[in-house]
Amino acid sequence: MISENRLDDKSKDKPKLHVQTATATSSNINIINLDDEEKNKEIKIVGLFREKGLLIKPSIIGELKEKSQEEILEIIGKLKDLHREELVFIDEIELKEVTQEIKLPSFADISRPSDFKPLAKEFGHDFKIYKERDVTGKSKCGGNIEDFVKNVNDRFQKLKDILESRPSNNKKAKAERAKKLVGETVRVIGMVMRKNETKKGHISLEIEDETGTLFILVLKDDKEAFEKAKKIIKDDVIAIDIKVGTNFCMAKDVTWPDMPVKNKRTIEKDLSIGFISDMHIGSKYFCDKEFERMLKWLNGVGPHKEIAEKIGYILIAGDLVDGVGNYPKQEYDLAIKDVFEQYKLVQELFKMVPDHIKIILIPGNHDAVRLSEPQPAISKEMLGDIPNFVSIGNPGFANIEGFETILYHGVSLGSMSSNIPGLTPAKPEEAVVELLKRRNLAPIYDECDIAPEHSDYHYIDKCDMINTGHMHKNGYTEYRGTVVVASGCWQWLTEYQVKQGHVATPCLMPVYNLKEGRITHLDFKNEDIKLLG
Ligand SMILES: [Fe+2]
Repeated sequence: MISENRLDDKSKDKPKLHVQTATATSSNINIINLDDEEKNKEIKIVGLFREKGLLIKPSIIGELKEKSQEEILEIIGKLKDLHREELVFIDEIELKEVTQEIKLPSFADISRPSDFKPLAKEFGHDFKIYKERDVTGKSKCGGNIEDFVKNVNDRFQKLKDILESRPSNNKKAKAERAKKLVGETVRVIGMVMRKNETKKGHISLEIEDETGTLFILVLKDDKEAFEKAKKIIKDDVIAIDIKVGTNFCMAKDVTWPDMPVKNKRTIEKDLSIGFISDMHIGSKYFCDKEFERMLKWLNGVGPHKEIAEKIGYILIAGDLVDGVGNYPKQEYDLAIKDVFEQYKLVQELFKMVPDHIKIILIPGNHDAVRLSEPQPAISKEMLGDIPNFVSIGNPGFANIEGFETILYHGVSLGSMSSNIPGLTPAKPEEAVVELLKRRNLAPIYDECDIAPEHSDYHYIDKCDMINTGHMHKNGYTEYRGTVVVASGCWQWLTEYQVKQGHVATPCLMPVYNLKEGRITHLDFKNEDIKLLG
C-alpha cells in the first residue's frame, strides 16, 4: 500500500478530487465521504501524474493505490517514454502495457505416473544431421559484390539444372540466342529481374541468364499463362516457353523447378515427432503455464498419454527466446531483460523433457545468433549441456528415421504472402508449398536478410518433411508426398503483434506419427488437453 510519507508534498496544492463511495444496508443507501487518508493518497497520485503531463482515468486509481511511490514513479517514467506529448490520458490499457506482471514459470517437480510406458524409448534414435548444409562455423561471405554474385550464380545453377531436366516439346535456348529465333517457340531458363503490370493490364517480365536479358509479355487474354504468371515473384528461377517476335517475346507457359511427385513416406516403427516453435521465453507473453503443462504431458501427466508415449523427437523451429532489441519498445514486453537469463530459463524448462526424446533445434530471428540467413546454430554457451539437445543452423537439414527433414524458421513466409496473390499469413502452410515449388526457402533476395554465402543454403534438394515457425500460426498440409508442418507458437499476442495485424494460435502442439502418416494437434490451453485432429 502507498503510505502518505512515501509521497512527496508537491501535489498538496493540486485541485481536490471529489471521491465518494456508497455503502448499502438492508434498509437504506448512504453516500459517505472517504476518509481523509484515502483521499490524500488519491490526490497525490493524480498530482504525480499531472506533473508529468499525464491525466489518469479514475478507474485505475484503485490499482495505483496498491503501489509504492517508487513503483508509481517508475510507471510514470515508462509512460513518459511511450508518450512524449504534453497531455495524455492514461487508461487501463496504457497502464497494463507498463505494469503487466512478470510471469515466470513455477517449476513443479514432475513425477511420472507408474502407468507411463514410453514406447519411443524402445526404438532409440536413428538420425543424421547434414553438416555440409549447415553454415555453423563456415560462413565465408564478407558481403561484397563478389560474394553476392557467387551466391546468386549458385542458386541459379542448382535450379537451372532441375529445370533443364524437365521435359519440353520446345527447343531450349539461352536468352541472347532466343532473340534471334523470330517466329519460333522456345524454352528459356532465367532468373526474374523485374515484373510489372502494363497500362493495359498485361504482365511484363525481364529475365536474365548467363548470356543476357530478355523482355517477355504475358497477355491477359492468354488465361492459362496469365494465371501462372501472376504467381511469378522477383528472383524466381523459371523455365518460360515464349513465342519470339520482332519487338518482344510472348509467354506461352511458365514452369517452376517444383518437387518430384512421390508417395508420402511411412515407417514400421510406431514413433512420433512433436513440433514446437516460437516460445519467446523471456517475454511477458510467454505461455508459461501451458508450456509447463505440455512438458508434464511429455512425462505422461494428463490425458492422451498414449500419444506422448510414442514421441521420440521434438523439432524446434526457432525463436526459443524473445531476445532483446528486436522491435521498438520490446523492453516493456520482457519479463527477463537479459538474453543470457532467457536462455537459462530455456535450459531449466527443457531439463523436464524425458531423456528418450531427442530435441533438434534451429534459431529464429529472435535468437542470439546473427540475423542474416543462413543462421548458425545457437551456441552451447547459451544452451548449456542438455544431452538431448541437437542445435543446428537455420535452415537445418537432417534425416530423421529415413525422413529427409528441413527445419526452417520462416522469415521468408511473410514476403511470400505479400507477393503471391491468394496467400495469407493465416495459412503459412500454403506459403511453404510455394517455397517447395521454387525449391528455395527464401526466394526473394531483398525481402529477406540473406548473407551472400558462396553456396545457396536455402536450396531445397530433397524433402519428406518440412517444419516452419515464425508466423505464430499452426498449419498442416501435404504436397507431392512432403509433409508440411507450421508449428504455431507459445506466446500470447503482444500489443506490437496486435498492431501489426498478426493472427496466432498459441499452445497447439502438432504431433506427427511416422508409422500412420497422421498429424494430431494437442491444445494445451486448458487442463483437459483437447485433441484437435
Ligand atoms: Fe516468433
